[in-house]
Amino acid sequence: MSFKWKDRYSLGIPTIDSQHKKLFEIGNRAYELAILNDGHDHYDEIMVIVDELLDYTEYHFEYEEALMKKYGYEHLIHQHKEHNFYIDKIKNISEENVDADQQKAILDILDFLSQWISSHILISDRKYADYFKEKGLL
Ligand SMILES: [Fe+2]
Ligand SMILES: [Fe+2]
Repeated sequence: MSFKWKDRYSLGIPTIDSQHKKLFEIGNRAYELAILNDGHDHYDEIMVIVDELLDYTEYHFEYEEALMKKYGYEHLIHQHKEHNFYIDKIKNISEENVDADQQKAILDILDFLSQWISSHILISDRKYADYFKEKGLL
């Protein structure tokens, strides 16, 4: 399950697409670590990914929500709820979890990233992108 960007992931909004590509890039780094499975200590590398993921996510979600607010998108609340769900997921990956079982932590990260792509980007984000296009806003 590597994270390869495909045209079908594109929402046709360049700033958003490049932010989503960043998520794929972080996902790929997590994937590379997961398939190593070499029994070595990768605690520091995993924590770098987790920290970066949280930073990126907070930035991206704020950016999207500001755009939705600006253009009066009616499903902003729904987006906000889904965004909080992913932020909580990342925050739940604690240093203790990673320390206790690195392989499980990295597989959990991969699992929720693929869920994010398939159910949030491809469905919820696409809806606001269609709305913006329909209204001729972007
Ligand atoms: Fe998004
Ligand atoms: Fe979103």
